[in-house]
Amino acid sequence: MRDLKALIAQMTLEEKASLLSGGDFWHTKAIDRLGIPATMVSDGPHGLRKQDQKADHLGVNDSIKAVCFPAASATAASFDPELVRTMGEAIGDSCQHEELSVVLGPAVNIKRSPLCGRNFEYFSEDPYLAGRMATAMIQGIQSRNVGTSIKHFAANNQEHRRMSSSSDVDERTLREIYFPAFEMAVREAQPWTVMCSYNRLNGVFASENRWLLTDVLRNEWGFEGYVMSDWGAVSNRPKGVEAGLDLEMPASGGINDRKVVEAVKNGTLDEACVDLCCERILRIVFRYIDNARPDTPWDLEAQHLLAADIAAECMVLLKNQDDILPLRRDEPVAFIGEFAAAPRFQGGGSSHINTFKTTSALEAANGLPVIYAQGYSAAEDTATDEQIAQAVEAALKARVAVVFAGLPDAYESEGYDRTHMRLPECQNRLIHAVAAANPNTVVVLHNGSPVEMPWIDEVRGVLEAYLGGQAVGLAEIRVLYGDVNPSGRLPESFPKKLEDNPSFLFFGGEPRATEYREGIFVGYRYYDKKKMDVLFPFGFGLSYTTFEYSGLRLSTDAMQDTDTLTATVTVTNTGKRAGKTVVQLYVADVESTVLRPVRELKGFEKIALEAGESRDVTFTLDKRAFAYWNTDLHDWHVETGDFRIEIGASCQDIRLTGTVHVTSTQTVPHHYDMDSIFMDIMADPKARAVLMPFMEKMMAAFMPKKEEATSEVADAAVSAEMSLAMMNYMPLRGVFSFGGGAGEDGIRQLLQALNQ
Ligand code: GLC
Repeated sequence: MRDLKALIAQMTLEEKASLLSGGDFWHTKAIDRLGIPATMVSDGPHGLRKQDQKADHLGVNDSIKAVCFPAASATAASFDPELVRTMGEAIGDSCQHEELSVVLGPAVNIKRSPLCGRNFEYFSEDPYLAGRMATAMIQGIQSRNVGTSIKHFAANNQEHRRMSSSSDVDERTLREIYFPAFEMAVREAQPWTVMCSYNRLNGVFASENRWLLTDVLRNEWGFEGYVMSDWGAVSNRPKGVEAGLDLEMPASGGINDRKVVEAVKNGTLDEACVDLCCERILRIVFRYIDNARPDTPWDLEAQHLLAADIAAECMVLLKNQDDILPLRRDEPVAFIGEFAAAPRFQGGGSSHINTFKTTSALEAANGLPVIYAQGYSAAEDTATDEQIAQAVEAALKARVAVVFAGLPDAYESEGYDRTHMRLPECQNRLIHAVAAANPNTVVVLHNGSPVEMPWIDEVRGVLEAYLGGQAVGLAEIRVLYGDVNPSGRLPESFPKKLEDNPSFLFFGGEPRATEYREGIFVGYRYYDKKKMDVLFPFGFGLSYTTFEYSGLRLSTDAMQDTDTLTATVTVTNTGKRAGKTVVQLYVADVESTVLRPVRELKGFEKIALEAGESRDVTFTLDKRAFAYWNTDLHDWHVETGDFRIEIGASCQDIRLTGTVHVTSTQTVPHHYDMDSIFMDIMADPKARAVLMPFMEKMMAAFMPKKEEATSEVADAAVSAEMSLAMMNYMPLRGVFSFGGGAGEDGIRQLLQALNQ
């Protein structure tokens, strides 16, 4: 075990400060005198973008040949943490082989709007799903003794003005929506590093936000690694050191190192903060160095096939009318669309990987009776009349026409946001034309985020391939021809139109800030609350077989919030072929004093079943499954009451429901004063006991007797309901004006008793 404190004690202040910024675009600093080597970090998240020549952070310059796995938008759809762990292990092997200490991912920012340019790189609109997938990815990668950098912490949910805008988010929304994926990953997987985001959070840059980087990340969640900045995210370096930003990336040419030295010398920065940052960085540097295995084999071909296996598990069958899928190998099929020959399988920007090989659907279909027509030109974003005519001709010759469509590179990328949710107009035109020629039309989509589907009623099948990595074509053929039974589920809602999205009014914000005014009502939390139809709901996906859920059993129907509950359900494959389904468990707070979503995902499990096979799935729920973030307590709180446990095949397809009564063991401190209203006091059992005797007197004075009514309309005007409502909303001080006879002393005594 190295004595890092002793090592740091040997350093000059200048040497310490130098450690706190990158040596260049991709390396930590070396201090040869003390045997401290430089270590390399590299993008991520779904493969290696290692630049060993000219470096940049938007994937402009070349990087080494590598394997592009499915992007997070796709892997989230697998709802299979084990699959993602396996992918992480493969990426970890490649890191060891390439002598990379940290791979910059996973990226877990919540998909607040379909418009965010980097949605393809993010998992979900749901923090629980995003957290489970990120945790598995980190565990997979770090099982190879290389690190990860979960990013971008926090609330970096748009590309527009990402380096300056303030994400203005209320406390509860941060805690319930934008933090949990990071929190789960830190608590369960201890990423070696965290990457802070570019944006301000409630006015303070993430790169110098002590509440974020120290109070929450370290003191509450127990993060033990180091925090690096996003590239160029540092504003005030000394403030960042104090806040807990350990490493500025990339190098800033010594400018900020000198500022750190000056700050220590002029007493505005405690040198102990500098030492702490050095220690955290060195701990990870040596953790990698002491476990470096550059002899680790990196079998790119094997990883290409693994990428295909993974992609096939991610694809979501959205429509399969008349069982148009799977295709038969003995029938002519038209493959229409340039993405059949040159698929879009990854996004633009820092995650863009220089693939050593790609396999398109057309290549994977060799030997099958497939007729190809380009249909459109993705880069030019056009479809000539001739291209459409050729596509229609191909469709007419085939039993089924498969259109490979989706968002071209220019439509979604790091660095800018989408401005609409539409596919390219030329592709919509193509799909309409093909479906008009051949009703047996299937659309395969390549997109990292929801798209509108104006042709949805004209086609018989839709397969969402998301951005499925370099071997996506192999996976598409396996799924389209039924070698693999599709088992993906949507990790995000597909709204019917952009305006339906809860962030629509606010997304992108104004020059200074973006206000997250939709609060916790993100994605299905909003659509379900408003009972709003969507094109396809969160958690939705079809299969080539059918499943039945039955026999929901809860371990109890009453518990305390400190207990755990198990929920067991039997799943049966009621179809004719093997398949996988994703059992989803949602929790619904039947009644609460705070606004809550109708339901929230608190468990899921993917299960493979042979035709006719049944198996039980058991979930274990703890307090967090029931809790909301209480802004008085600044902690998680479960309100006593009934909760529904819902087993669903999507958030809008709830198959089984059970109820459990949960009793809170946590008292929310109340302070009552003259302005406290009777309803709130009566809702607190202890306060109620104190108030009741007083209430009887008050009610007697307040509720008029029928015989006292001064006019026949009296009883209508002062109906019991209204009186009760008036009573409920009455502040204590109201007794002085509305009777009850208790003088000021009486009320003060009552308040004293209530606040005991
Ligand atoms: C980029 C991205 C970040 C990436 C880094 C290095 O700007 O925001 O995700 O890891 O810079 O390329």
